[in-house]
Amino acid sequence: MVLVAPSLLAADLGDIKNQVALVEKAGADWLHFDIMDGHFVPNLSFGPDFVRQLRHLSRLFFDVHIMVENPLSFIPMFYNSGADMITFHYEAALDDTNKVINELKKRNLKVGISIKPHTPADVLKPFLKNIDNILVMTVEPGFGGQIFMENQIKKISDIATIIADHPITLEVDGGINPQTAELCVQNGANVLVAGSAIFKSPNPDLVIKKIHELRRK
Ligand code: DX5
Ligand code: ZN
Repeated sequence: MVLVAPSLLAADLGDIKNQVALVEKAGADWLHFDIMDGHFVPNLSFGPDFVRQLRHLSRLFFDVHIMVENPLSFIPMFYNSGADMITFHYEAALDDTNKVINELKKRNLKVGISIKPHTPADVLKPFLKNIDNILVMTVEPGFGGQIFMENQIKKISDIATIIADHPITLEVDGGINPQTAELCVQNGANVLVAGSAIFKSPNPDLVIKKIHELRRK
């Protein structure tokens, strides 16, 4: 099954309640929150209060993608805000990766690791027994609305092979629309984050439906 995770970065924040209700009704599986600290990426976005306020409005699975330096220090606040999963960046954790994983597990949070476009798949190998999700960035993290990087396809299919015997979801994020989603699914991805393609579309429900219809060939 292919899951769809609308990224709120592209939502109309002045109408956030209706935007969440819209994608929930249209069949979104996860809500994707992009947390940016202005250091790990050159942009700022949402803090824990934003997540907490939406927690009261939605029962969807909260997929919190933290693009931050020192991920360890951010875990308690997003746990308290109602995250279901926290996906941190390997590049920000490095030698602390096991520590971050343990802090998440201690709180019964699902564990996700993300890698940027230039980070090779191999870095993930030591952690496969302890994680629930791998997020492959298909743009440089920091901004919505960028073009999908086709050179990430091989990495997606390599990771799909590496995790074949593990209960790990393979999520892609950046430049995903129904066309690039199909390419990703054919190469093994099964969670598709989409910001602009959903929220800037006149028919978000149709976009979600199209992505749901994709099957691995
Ligand atoms: C980028 C974020 C993405 C972003 C995707 O740093 O991690 O989740 O919202 O936006 P689109 O789908 O517009 O490329
Ligand atoms: Zn993201």
